Amino acid sequence: MSTENVIVKDEAGVRLIILNRADKKNAINQDMYAAMADALNAAQEDDALRVVVFTGSGDAFSAGNDMMDFLNPNARMGDADLPVERFLQAILTAKKPMLAAVNGLAVGIGTTMLMHCDLVYASDNARFSVPFINLGLMPEAASSLLLPAAIGPKKAAEMLMFGDFHDAETARDMGLINEVFTSESLMDEVMTRARALAAKPPSAMLLIKSLLKREPETPGARMARESALFAERLQSAECKEAASAFFEKRAPDFTKCAE
Ligand code: COA
Repeated sequence: MSTENVIVKDEAGVRLIILNRADKKNAINQDMYAAMADALNAAQEDDALRVVVFTGSGDAFSAGNDMMDFLNPNARMGDADLPVERFLQAILTAKKPMLAAVNGLAVGIGTTMLMHCDLVYASDNARFSVPFINLGLMPEAASSLLLPAAIGPKKAAEMLMFGDFHDAETARDMGLINEVFTSESLMDEVMTRARALAAKPPSAMLLIKSLLKREPETPGARMARESALFAERLQSAECKEAASAFFEKRAPDFTKCAE
């Protein structure tokens, strides 16, 4: 599944998708979007894979969409079968947890794709920018909705209207990312977390992600939905295994809990 510019590695239930175009700061071209969409979609269908992690090679996460696309009259963004649109649909609809290890610059879609990741970790030299305004463009990947939801409307306006860079600690303090690590420790820290998620009860994990990603609803409607799901989960093999393991004083093993 790997291509020259996108490396895909599977290990211990974790699919690692590495943007591998370091000489262009991992700017994403249509071939790369296609490879990323395929790798992400295939992970949803593979029971052995529980978690997806995105990162970049070299000193950048991604400098965003390949600027050549913006000069190509044939690359009409918005066409559903265009690789970029397939990738956007894939991150929008992914059922399994997605993590990002932001190892440097994250520009344009390098930042907006993070809005779709459940957990985002960055190296201390990472910088984030959504410079659409400076290019006479619009925010994409639903970021005009998801960015204010993540960091608040004032901060989102600042990022989208000025298009300036924010460093990793500022991004963490704004709630754009979870945690900051040194460059040297970033991948170990992220893979440790990814492996931990991969060992959690898989069906319960999918339900939690689907609840976190659901369209807004009233607290009452949400409470009712949670209660119904909670009652269902009490009957699940995963819950029975967790409770049995507790009383038998052993670690739970969710690998036998196919549902
Ligand atoms: N599309 C295509 N190529 C890109 C690119 C992009 N988005 N971003 C960087 N590159 C290429 C550069 O053209 C350069 O190629 P070259 O060596 O053949 O000249 C190479 O990557 C390195 O980039 P460079 O600008 O020299 O690195 P830098 O560290 O000085 O700056 C950035 C890095 C990301 C700040 C700068 O390249 C930049 O602003 N890129 C455009 C980001 C952008 O606007 N993306 C679109 C968002 S919608």
